[in-house]
Amino acid sequence: MSLDSFHWGSINFCKSYEKFKSSIVLLSRTVLQMNDMIKIRNFKKGDMQTILDIEYQCFSDPYPLSLLNRLYETYPDGFLVAELNGKVVGYIIGAVRWGGYGHILAIAVDIEHRKMGVGTALALNMLERFRSKGVKTVRLEVRKSNMTARNFYLKLGFKEREEIPYYYEDGESAIVMIYDL
Ligand SMILES: CC(C)(COP(=O)(O)OP(=O)(O)OC[C@H]1O[C@@H](n2cnc3c(N)ncnc32)[C@H](O)[C@@H]1OP(=O)(O)O)[C@@H](O)C(=O)NCCC(=O)NCCS
Repeated sequence: MSLDSFHWGSINFCKSYEKFKSSIVLLSRTVLQMNDMIKIRNFKKGDMQTILDIEYQCFSDPYPLSLLNRLYETYPDGFLVAELNGKVVGYIIGAVRWGGYGHILAIAVDIEHRKMGVGTALALNMLERFRSKGVKTVRLEVRKSNMTARNFYLKLGFKEREEIPYYYEDGESAIVMIYDL
């Protein structure tokens, strides 16, 4: 499989060669070893059951099927899945919001396939898609207690901007994270 299938074009979102180089360093050795096996593609309706399974495995407050369907219908280009050796193992949902900022609504990787670079491949692909649409700033909210996700985004180059108290239904705060493309 060619390097294209890993969307190395995503490195274009980097502002400079220096940033490009540091992005490459940020990709783990594992990512480089897996690059001929990870494929990022648009979501297809037949993926929904797998996405639901991953969603319920990953979150205490999973998006219900109705919401996932609505997100797909509203943002068909913003719903991507990761295939590893032909099996769907993760997904990301992103939208360009009114005002022109990119919003990452969800990302999750099947528990058995974490720490292999799948999340990074999904996020880099989404950032590149945002960039190609002229997006300058990307935003997301993450649970304050979700240190895995916060570290994941920090490693990608996101910055923590602010805390929103009581953002989630159970009262937990959200940390707003921003990436300038
Ligand atoms: C967050 C998530 C998508 C990361 O996916 P992943 O495929 O495991 O991530 P990657 O392998 O690309 O990891 C890239 C970097 O993120 C950080 N990271 C990933 N998992 C981590 C962990 N458990 N602890 C600390 N840092 C972690 C590391 O810096 C890692 O780089 P390294 O492997 O060189 O150390 C995945 O853990 C997940 O699905 N979590 C549950 C769902 C979730 O919380 N989504 C975010 C909601 S906002």
